[in-house]
Amino acid sequence: MHAELQKEIETFEKRTRKSYAAHQKAMPYMPLGVSSNFRSYEPYPLFIRDAQGGKVHDLDGHEYLDFNLCFGALMAGHCHPAVVKAVQERLHLGTMFGMPHELERELAQEICARFPVEQVRFGNSGTEATMHAIRLARGVTGRDKVLKMEGAYHGVHDTVMVSVKPKADAWGDPKSPNPVPASGGVPAATLQNTLIAPFNDLAAAEKIFATNPKEIAAVIVEPVMMNVGICMPEPGYLQVLRDLCTRNGALLIFDEVKTGAKLARGGACEYFKVNPDLVCLAKSIGGGFPLAAFAAKKSIMDKIAEHKVFHAGTYNTNPVVMAAGLAVFREVLTPKAYEQINRLNTKLVDGHKQIIKKNGLTAYSTGAGANGAMLLYSKPIRNYRDWIEVDVDLWRHYWFGMVNRGVIPQPYWWDEQWTISVAHTEADIDRHLEAFTDVAPALARAQQEHFATVAQ
Ligand SMILES: Cc1ncc(COP(=O)(O)O)c(C=O)c1O
Repeated sequence: MHAELQKEIETFEKRTRKSYAAHQKAMPYMPLGVSSNFRSYEPYPLFIRDAQGGKVHDLDGHEYLDFNLCFGALMAGHCHPAVVKAVQERLHLGTMFGMPHELERELAQEICARFPVEQVRFGNSGTEATMHAIRLARGVTGRDKVLKMEGAYHGVHDTVMVSVKPKADAWGDPKSPNPVPASGGVPAATLQNTLIAPFNDLAAAEKIFATNPKEIAAVIVEPVMMNVGICMPEPGYLQVLRDLCTRNGALLIFDEVKTGAKLARGGACEYFKVNPDLVCLAKSIGGGFPLAAFAAKKSIMDKIAEHKVFHAGTYNTNPVVMAAGLAVFREVLTPKAYEQINRLNTKLVDGHKQIIKKNGLTAYSTGAGANGAMLLYSKPIRNYRDWIEVDVDLWRHYWFGMVNRGVIPQPYWWDEQWTISVAHTEADIDRHLEAFTDVAPALARAQQEHFATVAQ
């Protein structure tokens, strides 16, 4: 480990004694001491006491500017006043009925107004949304196979827990990657039904269709791959994928769990002007509450109405979450909010670019809607196998360095990206950039030393 990274981790350990103690206490009761594997990292995770707007406090009382925002689920910021008000009002009127009420129709209408869809079904997590979208696609087409991109994350159900972060010894040919289970417990039979293509490679996708004629139910794609930092689709990629699906009788599923709220008001569909068959939404549409949806044209959703494909859930459309979602759509994700966030993000990305240049870092900064990332790589990544080259130690140095200076620059993990919320201000962006200005020279030194060692 580079000496400067070691120093940052020591500083983190000195500042966050209460997080350490809380983690020690949790370890006997939960695997890794946490409730989602993504929340566990070395030496131990930061424990949070409370949050408001664009800021969080840890157990030791330190304040941080929060650009993690719950893995991008809080474009509304923490405790947005409109969301809190809507939820408080609903709390006293019953928290769940297991029977229909009018808020669900109202929210479905909001979604239909923004996305190229006619009907919606709700759930509670991105995992549910992609799982039901895939089942529906299988039900509509009568086919079993699903094509996903290597390195893409679509939640934790079996069909998509394949080739999420495959290792080089298993991933196979770059043009025709092997399906690699991302967890124990994924049945071998599942692997036969999940086909893998590299992102941004239309020839590979076409070949997979050719070798599996009339067998592919759907292509599921995150329009901007946001589980390898930020990986933009090349011009035309999504439209050609669209056409490929149409030609082959398969459905195109846009996993817009992240992009749905954060790329534009109408998500990636609007941003790239491409109409998928199914759209999956979650994260930032809920304003801090567990809200998800999958949506499509009526002719597709009809399979549910005809009782040919099943969808259900006790917690679906509980009125508290629906009230939060309505507040988000009507009062938070407004055209003005997108303007403001795009402006702040441009400032943050441009500021990063200047600091990277000034310090001679081999890295680049990129943004998309409310998201951005600093990638420690020499050129824009095109796919998962480019991203795997990112220098992890250097990234950890960056992350702990920023956290020690009061800025959580993004979720922990080098495959993530920052989110800007409606609560962030120009001054917050300045502080983010000040922290990076402070960290960058040591990062550049560490990188040069690393390059020198590799060259020897
Ligand atoms: C693109 C994408 N799809 C699906 C999911 C799964 O969402 P959830 O964690 O709500 O199940 C995630 C979560 O990070 C995601 O980024």
